[in-house]
Amino acid sequence: MNSKKIAGEKAVEFIKDGMIIGLGTGSTVYYTINKLAEKVREGLSIKAVSTSSSTTKLATQFGIEIIPFDEVDYIDLTIDGADEVDNNLNGIKGGGGALLYEKLVASSSKKIIWVVDKSKMVSTLGKFPLPIEVIPFAHHQVFNKLKSLNLNPVLRKIDHSCYITDGEHYIIDLSLEKIEYPYELDNTLRSIPGVVETGLFLNMADMVIVGNEGKVEIVNSKSRL
Ligand code: 5RP
Repeated sequence: MNSKKIAGEKAVEFIKDGMIIGLGTGSTVYYTINKLAEKVREGLSIKAVSTSSSTTKLATQFGIEIIPFDEVDYIDLTIDGADEVDNNLNGIKGGGGALLYEKLVASSSKKIIWVVDKSKMVSTLGKFPLPIEVIPFAHHQVFNKLKSLNLNPVLRKIDHSCYITDGEHYIIDLSLEKIEYPYELDNTLRSIPGVVETGLFLNMADMVIVGNEGKVEIVNSKSRL
């Protein structure tokens, strides 16, 4: 059975009537949204905030009403995907380009669940290129700075044009192979003028639901219990 599907659908069991839900972005959360829509049709009453234009489109098509992020004071539970997750439940996100809104929604969430397939679980972050969202006006300077720090930057492009995020920024992906000190790296990146957000999501997830060959494993964060 599809590992993304079982992980994505499992997360819906944690959604309770009356909750405000943050809906993440990506192919695993697709299954969460699909399943949630089923529950909503059966009478579950929730409000939802979206992390991307693609998720807003999907949820709306499925009949889930999306309310604006700035109309809520907090979010009860956010369910999102991830590109890599380590043993401390630190993660890399932004493969789908939604890292800024995903981090904003995560930062206002009381509880965060990530849904992933087993291939995303790693001992050290970094094999997946780390996305950095940058201001277009400054992207050349930011790129050069990242290069001088030996962080192997690559400007994300689609069909030879710069990839543009929902927040109208560019993305630079860093090919690092191993991130030994994620907190230090995050601080370094944040200190560069023109960097809007990084794809390092540190000490944010409360739980990770891992789909693996027809089964789900639930991993709880030790530091956030
Ligand atoms: C988008 C993300 C996604 O959550 C991440 O890329 C995982 O996606 P998928 O579930 O399709 O593998 O961070 O910005």
